[in-house]
Amino acid sequence: MSTTYLITGANRGIGLELSKNVLSAGDSLIALCRRPEAANALQKLAEESDGRAQIYAADVSDETMLDELAQQIDSTIDVLVCNAGVMSARGSLADPHNTAESVSTVLLTNIAGPFFTARAFLKNLKLSKQPRIAIISSYMGSQQHSGAGAYFYRASKAGVNNIMVTLANELKTQGIAVASYHPGWVQTDMGGSAADITSAVSAKGLIERFGELNLAKTGQFFNYDGSQLPL
Ligand SMILES: NC(=O)c1ccc[n+]([C@@H]2O[C@H](COP(=O)([O-])OP(=O)(O)OC[C@H]3O[C@@H](n4cnc5c(N)ncnc54)[C@H](OP(=O)(O)O)[C@@H]3O)[C@@H](O)[C@H]2O)c1
Repeated sequence: MSTTYLITGANRGIGLELSKNVLSAGDSLIALCRRPEAANALQKLAEESDGRAQIYAADVSDETMLDELAQQIDSTIDVLVCNAGVMSARGSLADPHNTAESVSTVLLTNIAGPFFTARAFLKNLKLSKQPRIAIISSYMGSQQHSGAGAYFYRASKAGVNNIMVTLANELKTQGIAVASYHPGWVQTDMGGSAADITSAVSAKGLIERFGELNLAKTGQFFNYDGSQLPL
């Protein structure tokens, strides 16, 4: 049976590769990105999908835009993938890029974005027989991670892992499983060319993990290879 995925930040990087995997498996895709008119690779995928992909404009930090979009979409969503994210300042305490504006953007995008997206499309998830919410987080947000720097990116991923646990607690009684995932260190605009793995390797693993997500695994944090990670 076909599975319908909604993926945010679907126009490039891990989101684009997840979108490719969904369509090559014969499943359906609701692809969200900030500027569909500039999303050439995603448009090409949609054109080649025999109508299984729809692309919509959405900024995950804009709750009104997400709520209005959700009113236009009646279809069932089986897997809601909150992938869109920003990195912001990567440096130490002395990094001058940690301004109020950049801190606000990373926290709003990476923490509130998945919350606003899940809230807007909850009605679509409730139509599914096996509803799942998958949040792309990062091991950099784990309290066990030994690295320094990138203060607010780390805090944003720790924050969204906390949102994940709270969502899992609230939605368990409604049969909706929620988990967060570390995609690996991935060769994308954010990860850089020196990263460990390609977006193809990451996306293949993540799609397998989303397939395994159920209520027995809700509230947990996983690596793309399936190993469990500490929050
Ligand atoms: N790459 C890694 O090594 C790595 C490691 C751990 C976790 N992650 C996480 O994996 C996810 C994807 O990262 P990536 O490596 O694919 O990054 P990327 O190549 O920089 O792509 C980021 C995506 O998020 C979108 N986005 C950013 N802000 C948005 C907003 N407000 N509303 C909607 N879309 C927005 C971007 O859209 P635009 O094109 O419009 O900017 C783009 O599609 C992120 O959550 C990231 O934190 C990545």
